[in-house]
Order: sequence, then structure tokens, then C-alpha cells
Amino acid sequence: MSSGNSISVRAAGASDQDGIAELLATAFGRRQTSEELGHRRALFPVERALVAVDAGQVVGHTVDITMTVTVPGDRTVRACGVSAVAVAPTHRRRGLLRALYTAQHARTEADGLPLTIFTASEGTIYGRFGYDPAITDTTVAIDRHRAEFRSTTPDPGGVLMSTLADAAPQIRAVYERWQRRTAGAQQRPEAKWALMFADLEGHRSGASSVFVLTHPDGYALYRRRHEGRESVVTVSELRAVTPHAHAALWRVLLGLDLVDRVEATLAENDPLPYLFADPRTVRVTDRSDALWARVMDVPAALTARRYSGDLDTVVEVHDPFRTAGGRFALRVRDGVAECAPTTRPADLGLDINVLGALYFGAHRAGRLAAAHRVRVENPAALTAFDAAFAAERAPELGWFF
Ligand SMILES: CC(C)(COP(=O)(O)OP(=O)(O)OC[C@H]1O[C@@H](n2cnc3c(N)ncnc32)[C@H](O)[C@@H]1OP(=O)(O)O)[C@@H](O)C(=O)NCCC(=O)NCCS
Repeated sequence: MSSGNSISVRAAGASDQDGIAELLATAFGRRQTSEELGHRRALFPVERALVAVDAGQVVGHTVDITMTVTVPGDRTVRACGVSAVAVAPTHRRRGLLRALYTAQHARTEADGLPLTIFTASEGTIYGRFGYDPAITDTTVAIDRHRAEFRSTTPDPGGVLMSTLADAAPQIRAVYERWQRRTAGAQQRPEAKWALMFADLEGHRSGASSVFVLTHPDGYALYRRRHEGRESVVTVSELRAVTPHAHAALWRVLLGLDLVDRVEATLAENDPLPYLFADPRTVRVTDRSDALWARVMDVPAALTARRYSGDLDTVVEVHDPFRTAGGRFALRVRDGVAECAPTTRPADLGLDINVLGALYFGAHRAGRLAAAHRVRVENPAALTAFDAAFAAERAPELGWFF
């Protein structure tokens, strides 16, 4: 593979590791300790990386691993999870990302993976490659002194303090229960668990080491820091598989003495705001894309998830980057889809990005059509398509990568 002049794009090997580390440090502005690098390499092995090399120097990098992700209907799909995309500041805007992505997506296609996913540094880069935001996160802040639970909010108890080491089996068991029923959530490979339980200083953003609360059906991980005179708790992960575990954990978090503010990142449909007497208690401070997705194989991806309504429609899919587009007949009965190429006229037309946006159920087809991102030849087909792709629960990212 060549990207013009003296630059070559190729599979990486062990001898590229130092060059990759220096490139990523330059691109993202932080040098990782050898312990961090060790964890990172265990999670994203160098054999899965592609590099662009100029005169022996690594000037571009991307890496991926196969992830198992839950999709609507409590099914799973195998997806290519891309990480650590970087091009050297000395070589930017010469087509190196495009060259790396072309090679990487060809490999993903050859591997037969129906979906590619990642978390993005900027919103303007990846649309051209057929991606769209597929999961949204809401960041909230709660003034602990003003947080008053409704009289109807239970106080079930059952929460214990723990340490990461002691709670590890419980955390893993709850996460797996939660992940199996949460669209968008990935299984955690052993290397990711090891990284999480290591609680590395470089991952704390200047806050304390992690504090752990457990419940038979949930857990919360949080850190503490000071911001001026304010004492702040940041919840880094809270998983609850029952409403009682959810209420019990939040009761303890908002009962932490000597704390002024509690911050957390929530799924779109988290019931937290409804637990309080004052509907303004949970203040939204940010809302952002948590995961981007691209459908690599339309029939394979669309038949992997389940649907909320019957459907019999023809969709014209345009792929600006690869050749996954075409015209597809999509038929759903009792939640189960059949999808195959067809020559019948299309009811709806869309860029493949839109399928990424709809895939986990975070976005609605009707709203995207109102934004001129779905071409509607048959309005009744849009109504059925919108209802079929809707998911009962909002999707959520399992872990950042
Ligand atoms: C983002 C980054 C990887 C782009 O690499 P690059 O080699 O300069 O990108 P390319 O030259 O291949 O550009 C490919 C296309 O993306 C566009 N593009 C690249 N970076 C962009 C950006 N930051 N914003 C908007 N468009 C961008 C280019 O204009 C080009 O468009 P076109 O092919 O449609 O004309 C590189 O600037 C970088 O490493 N940045 C810092 C780290 C980072 O943000 N990594 C991404 C992590 S998700």
C-alpha cells in the first residue's frame, strides 16, 4: 500500500511501538507512562495497527479490535472498534487518514464485520467516511445541598463501601448483566478489565483514586477533587440493573457529607431527574456524541438487530466511501428482519451514515427526514420505518476507547 511519494501505509509490527507511542503523544498532547502503554498494547495489540511511515518515521496510525456489542432486542453484533487515529502535525491534510482508513475498512470488509464503531475527537471528520453519531451522552451536575428526593423515591439501602480489588467480581457480574440488556454496550475484554482495575494515576484527571459502592444489583465508581472551595464528586461509572439499585446508589452518592456538587454522565433516558422534588435538580451541563457507527454490510447489520414494528419497504442506501450501498428490500415480522438487494423502486433514500445514526435506536428516522437526511418517496413507509427502528431503551456506551 502506498500513499504517494515516499510514504507507505502498512501493517505495524513490534519495532513500530516506540514510533507509534511518540506519534500518539504528539497528536493527543500527553505522554503515557510505560505502565499505561503496557495496558494499552494489551488492549489494542500492535498486530492490529496500520501505520503510515515516511523515511522510517511513523507519521500516521490507526488500530482496531473486534468488539461484541449489544443491539436492540438484546442481541449482539461483532463490530470493528477503531481507536488511536492520528496523523503527525508535519503530515496533516495530505490524505494520510484517508489512506489509512481505506486500508482499514478493506480489512474490516474482508473480515465480514457488519459494523465499525469509534469515539471521535471532532464532529467534522468522519461523516465523509459514512459515519454518524449513534449514541448520545448527557453530562449533568447536581448541587448536593439542594437535592431533595421525592417522598415516592424509595430508600432501599443495601449499598456497601468497597475497594476495587474486593469488588472486582461483583462489578464484573453486574456489568455483564447490564451489558447484555443495553444496546450500544460492548463486552469488556480481559485487558480492559485489567486497565480499569489498575486505576492508573494518568486516567484520574487530577482527581482522587476511585471510590467504590456496591449493591447486589449495581455499583458506582466515583472520584473526588476540589475546584476552588468546592468539593466535587465525579461518578465515572454507575451501572444499575434494577430501579431499586439505581435509587439506592444515588441516595448514597447524594448523601456524601462534605461534598458540594456531584457530576455524572447519563444515558438519554436515565430516570435520575424524576427522583427529585425539584425538577431543576439535575442540571444538564453538556450533551455530546458518545459513539459513532458505520454500517459495513447493510443486510448483515440490519438483520442482526430486532425491531419494534412490522415493515415492508425498499430503501436506497448511498455509500460515499465504500461500496456497501444499493437498493434493499427490508421486511420485518415480529421484530425479525429479512434484508436483500432488490430492483423494486425505493420508498426511502438515505446516506449510509443515517443507518449508523438509527442503528442502536438513539435517533429517529422521522426527525432525520425532517432534517432532509431521508428522501421520502412514500410517506407511509417513513412512518413504519420510524416506528420499526425505535428502541424501547436509549443506547449507552459500555466503555470509552
Ligand atoms: C484528524 C487527523 C487524523 C486527520 O488526518 P489527515 O491525514 O490530516 O486527514 P486527511 O488529509 O486524510 O483528510 C481526509 C479528509 O478529512 C478532512 N479532515 C481531516 N481532518 C479534519 C478535521 N480536523 N476537521 C475537518 N475535516 C478534516 C480532510 O479535509 C479530508 O477531506 P476530503 O478527503 O473529503 O477532502 C489528524 O489531523 C490528527 O491526527 N489530529 C489530531 C488527533 C485526532 O484528532 N485524531 C482523531 C481521533 S478520533
